[in-house]
Amino acid sequence: MEPKLQLLRENVRTFPDFPKPGIQFRDICPILKSPPALTAAIDLFEERVRTMHPQVDLIVGLDARGFLFGPLLAQRLGIGFVPVRKKGKLPGTTVSTAYDLEYGRAELEIQEDAVAPAQKIIVIDDLLATGGTLCAACELLLRLQAQVLECLVLVELKDLRGAERLKPHAVFSLLQY
Ligand code: PRP
Ligand code: HPA
Repeated sequence: MEPKLQLLRENVRTFPDFPKPGIQFRDICPILKSPPALTAAIDLFEERVRTMHPQVDLIVGLDARGFLFGPLLAQRLGIGFVPVRKKGKLPGTTVSTAYDLEYGRAELEIQEDAVAPAQKIIVIDDLLATGGTLCAACELLLRLQAQVLECLVLVELKDLRGAERLKPHAVFSLLQY
């Protein structure tokens, strides 16, 4: 395995039955605590975007753990970052949508003027489980007439088939479980 991916894999911990029985929680906090691992994650995302999506205009990150990686990636690429937040946190005119989670239900929101029509977007989050969260974010971006180039995640939980749910949007994951 490529050394940067190996380093990332060594820095994901698994907690059984969190936050509910039956959920195997993949914890990315050790990546944040390790400068080489965090650098490796951003390097790999940067390489992906520079090679496959050089036309990108903006990075959109999802509340909350997408905020840990999105601004770092955006700064590497020399472009802006826009947050998609849980409902009730953003001032001004927003668009919102409800969605189901692996363990609950929530609502996501974006500021209406954050993204212009036809802007080319890379969406980033820490983890893809059922795909409900990323689907909701892509729906918000489509409502603003933006173009989603790809969704990036550190971790993809393959059994939950989130990538299929996200179609026609593409997902690129660094680690698969
Ligand atoms: C987690 C994770 C993703 C989402 C993935 O966030 O960070 O955003 O769930 O699940 P899905 O693919 O089934 O939608 P969570 O909603 O727990 O919120 P947090 O980032 O605020 O902890
Ligand atoms: N780990 C972290 N976040 C998550 C998970 C998980 O296994 N499932 C849904 N969100």
